[in-house]
Amino acid sequence: MGRNFRRAGAAVLAALTTTALVACSSEQAPQAEENGGGGDDAATETISIGFSQVGAESGWRAANTKSIQDTLTAENGFDLKFSDAQQKQENQIQAIRSYIQQGVDVIAFSPVVETGWDAVLEEAKAASIPVILTDRAVDSEDESLYESFIGSDFVLEGEMAGDWAVEQYDGEGFKAVELQGTTGAAPMIDRQQGFADAIAGSDIEMIDSQTGNFTRTEGKQVMEGFLQKYDDIDLVFAHNDDMGLGAIEAIEAAGKVPGKDIKIITVDAVKDGMQALADGKINYIVECNPLLGPDLAEIAKKVVAGEEVQKRIVVEDQAFDQEAAKEALPDRQY
Ligand code: AHR
Repeated sequence: MGRNFRRAGAAVLAALTTTALVACSSEQAPQAEENGGGGDDAATETISIGFSQVGAESGWRAANTKSIQDTLTAENGFDLKFSDAQQKQENQIQAIRSYIQQGVDVIAFSPVVETGWDAVLEEAKAASIPVILTDRAVDSEDESLYESFIGSDFVLEGEMAGDWAVEQYDGEGFKAVELQGTTGAAPMIDRQQGFADAIAGSDIEMIDSQTGNFTRTEGKQVMEGFLQKYDDIDLVFAHNDDMGLGAIEAIEAAGKVPGKDIKIITVDAVKDGMQALADGKINYIVECNPLLGPDLAEIAKKVVAGEEVQKRIVVEDQAFDQEAAKEALPDRQY
């Protein structure tokens, strides 16, 4: 679909809503007409992109935000409108609606949860504004509601964590607890599934699983509760580093040694997590690469130019044990 058509669609939608919005869109529409839109012209024109971020819940999220803000710059041909949803779906929906009304060229967002997006995505489609998903998926059956989804394979991350646990600890009758990410978020659902599949058939038993909402504070609180409830925890699987770091604080406060008395496996591999791994307080980390800005910029440019893009771009992740963390830390970017 050409760029002119998209802009015209956005302007029509704006005209149907409020006067202020008409003013906003009509300022942009002549520019599209002058430049002819689409094709080669689109490559030299500034692309306005509205990005709705999940929040600022973790070190991973901070690195992801930085990557997006450092890449989608004016020098790179972008006019970035960025909003932080503070982990609330209603804030994201509001931000997306505002981007539709502003008639941006592209909308990108990292959905806080998987469900409940169809209505707003249909509004974007009706306004002919392409949508790119980054980091997290939506569960929409209609794949025409978005152009591309760029992000890690979270099921694989959970499996990698579980495979390592089985390799290291199967046969020892380990009791494990799980610190889940935000309830209903794709990484929470998929990492839980991947880990459960990997340990099935081993003698590692998952005795409890609760959400710590991907934050250090809640990870610590949930772990404190687990430690009060059970005196025989051998292993923690935390869906991200921050919750694992919170768990370390709770374990130390309970007079136990993290990484020894209670083993810890996390996901992300941000600097704080990698430092704790190198220090022996975490036992294994599966990476989740947050540097999605360059891929998003490339896909956004292609979409605006009307080029074909891949529906799913899987970001590759590695994993680190304590020795590998010591080697990787000096060059770690985030
Ligand atoms: O969606 C990616 C996850 O979200 C990261 O693992 C976590 O740290 C973040 O909050």
